[in-house]
Amino acid sequence: MAATPGTRPTPADEAREAAVEKALARLDLDAKARLLSGQDMWTLPALPEIGLPSLVMSDGPIGVRGMRWTAEDPSVALPSPTALAATWDPELARRAGVLLAQEARRKGVHVLLAPTVNLHRSPLGGRHFEAYSEDPYLTGEIGSGYVTGVQSGGVGTTVKHFVANDAETDRFTVDNLVSERALRELYLAPFEAIVAGAHPWGIMTAYNQVNGTTMTEHRHLVNEVLRGEWGFDGFNVSDWTAARSTTDALTGGLDVAMPGPRTVYGEPLAAAVRAGEVTEAALDEAVRRVLRLAARVGILEGADPVVTEPPAPVDGEALTREIARRSFVLVRNDAPAGRPDAQAALPLAPGSTVALSGAAARDARVLGGGSATVFPSRIVSPLDGLTAALPEGALTYSVGADPNEELAVADKGFTLQAVCRDVSGTVIGTRSAPNGHIQWTGSDLPDGVTHTTLHTVEVTGTFTPRETGTHTFGIKGLGAYTLTVDGTTHFDGVQTTDTDDPFVSFFGAPVPLAQVGLTEGTPVRVSLTHVVELAPDAPSTMLAFSLCHRDPQRDPDDLIAEAARAARAADTAVVVVATTERVESEGFDRTDLRLPGRQDDLVRAVAAANPATVVVVNAGSPVQLPWRDEVAAVLLTWFPGQEGGAALADVLTGTHEPGGRLPTTWGDLSEAPVTQVTPTSGELTYDEGVFIGYRAWDQENRTPTYPFGHGLGYTDWTYESLDVNGTTATVRVRNSGTREGRETIQLYLAPTTPDENRPTRWLAGFATVEAAPGETAEAVIELPRRAFEIWDENTNAWVYVEGSYEVAAGRSIADRRITVTVEA
Ligand code: BGC
Repeated sequence: MAATPGTRPTPADEAREAAVEKALARLDLDAKARLLSGQDMWTLPALPEIGLPSLVMSDGPIGVRGMRWTAEDPSVALPSPTALAATWDPELARRAGVLLAQEARRKGVHVLLAPTVNLHRSPLGGRHFEAYSEDPYLTGEIGSGYVTGVQSGGVGTTVKHFVANDAETDRFTVDNLVSERALRELYLAPFEAIVAGAHPWGIMTAYNQVNGTTMTEHRHLVNEVLRGEWGFDGFNVSDWTAARSTTDALTGGLDVAMPGPRTVYGEPLAAAVRAGEVTEAALDEAVRRVLRLAARVGILEGADPVVTEPPAPVDGEALTREIARRSFVLVRNDAPAGRPDAQAALPLAPGSTVALSGAAARDARVLGGGSATVFPSRIVSPLDGLTAALPEGALTYSVGADPNEELAVADKGFTLQAVCRDVSGTVIGTRSAPNGHIQWTGSDLPDGVTHTTLHTVEVTGTFTPRETGTHTFGIKGLGAYTLTVDGTTHFDGVQTTDTDDPFVSFFGAPVPLAQVGLTEGTPVRVSLTHVVELAPDAPSTMLAFSLCHRDPQRDPDDLIAEAARAARAADTAVVVVATTERVESEGFDRTDLRLPGRQDDLVRAVAAANPATVVVVNAGSPVQLPWRDEVAAVLLTWFPGQEGGAALADVLTGTHEPGGRLPTTWGDLSEAPVTQVTPTSGELTYDEGVFIGYRAWDQENRTPTYPFGHGLGYTDWTYESLDVNGTTATVRVRNSGTREGRETIQLYLAPTTPDENRPTRWLAGFATVEAAPGETAEAVIELPRRAFEIWDENTNAWVYVEGSYEVAAGRSIADRRITVTVEA
């Protein structure tokens, strides 16, 4: 019976289960097998015989893209998951979830493919920006808030990627060798916490193997641990194309194979039942779970949804801006060098003039790449945000350095549409093509067009250059193309690849194909024609390619010198540095943590010109900041979502303080303890065991650049008392600064007798409080039993480790203000 684990089924649960059983009994074998197989990229087939419409799934996690992959169908873009975790506020994560449910309902989506709760095992992990933290407890708390919020809006979640999908290299095949103890204490822990705390309606099993078995067939981890031990009663969907066998997947606990229409379920599954390779009872179990999901989200006839009244409407722009500023981590804030009596650089003194530089200050990177991509209807860049917030004449802007070494989508200055033709060259349909980007999946084609009739797609229109000089044009995508600019054909040929990643056209590198001299303001015609050839054995019909472009490149030294000159003339210099889509995206890992291009040189030149230099870091994961002691302030803003520039202006001008604390240790790669993300002979051994993140930095006795939990606000805090009564800790803090503020109180637990098999200390609880200057605030924090337990591989069970522990309350793992010793 499906109910919240540990609770009794409600009458509504029972009624839904009855509706599920009734529907199940009315389905024949073929219909049941069909329900478990995607009908296209994002949906399951409708079964009219039981009144079941098609169930729709969509990514996830920072917005709801919907069934279409296009800027024509915009979505609110929240800050990246690392940013959400940096708020250390599960309640804010819950509110983000409520907004996402609202977005999902608006777009007809029943299940959100999120949250990502893999861990930051290594800073090189390519999808680091898409996960929360290196700490399983923080990840579980933020993930629980998120899932609770989404599902309170009547929309399902799939907590992903179960499990140990912590890097991207060879992600489809890698066999991650992980001890049971590390699995339990680290990688499974967030999933376990979310199942217990938020009762997710779905889970997504990962591409990778764990200890020799691919996760879509992992009977032990799915059937025994997730379902058996933890009582998970939701559905299990494969990551996209991760289901590889019919019988092993079904007996391994996989309910749905995505995407379709060609999967290992559907017809092959019905045939396997008929051949006696799997039982119909096993198939019924999977169908039951999908019908239960349908009932929960309200699309199964005769069943009341879990949520009958959606929550009150949320203002998406306001919430996105609030989360962004609450996520920004001020890691350094000093008086400018040589002016020791001056105020700290932030917030800016009223009336300050500001010299802003950095390519990302104008073309902000607000979200990470890959399947997490959504298309917001607007993006507030730092330049936009500061222009709106500062008095006229107070702000100058120069590019300074552009880290984008490759072409970007054709957005600035392009007006484009897609023209579809049949084999005779007759136009059969058109659609606008914002950004020159085509990503049509399944039946999402322009009106009047079908996959059978479609022969070519031409992206065509005008380009009005922003600058005079040599412009570069190119494409992203595979197959046959013709590229014409201003009447001249520059390319007519075929693009191929040597990778087997079917998603390469989603996040592969653009290829430059034409260099054309153009004049600012004079429009020219551009055309890119693609001959459509759908791979007959592809799991899903997907048409994806882009027209790409790059502005003329100026001499990098000149750009830096120009920014330094502007910095010298202003009271404060603000430099925005960033990673690019080539650095942080899906399908590959990072190879280093350096800022790309000449950005380090830019910061140094600006800081030499003006000691009141503030560096804003626009990156979803850790980067190295070799100049950090040469600048007055460093503010980490992650991928801040569509309102990032407005939130930045709030924080720089001081209308709000930055609220974030590091959810992950920041350090240089040469010092980082766990860096191996590349498998050897197909295997990646997690030989560091339970020592990742701060647990590993501590074990190696190394001091990172910025420790876990670190982050400054605009006021000061005095820790006055810490009392621990049983497992309840009460912390009193005083706002000893001059303005109202919010403090994130962190509790760390450490065995008083060091034990080399255990980390030195670990996060055991946290809470945020607010207080006016001079006032005190109290937080009551429950220390979870699990914080005192370890997984015993001999008995295969959790063991409560008795003994004496130091409980420390503080501002980061390194800045512990009060400690008490307790006996456990
Ligand atoms: C990603 C998933 C995503 C899915 C659908 C996969 O490549 O790993 O996180 O939900 O695609 O876009």
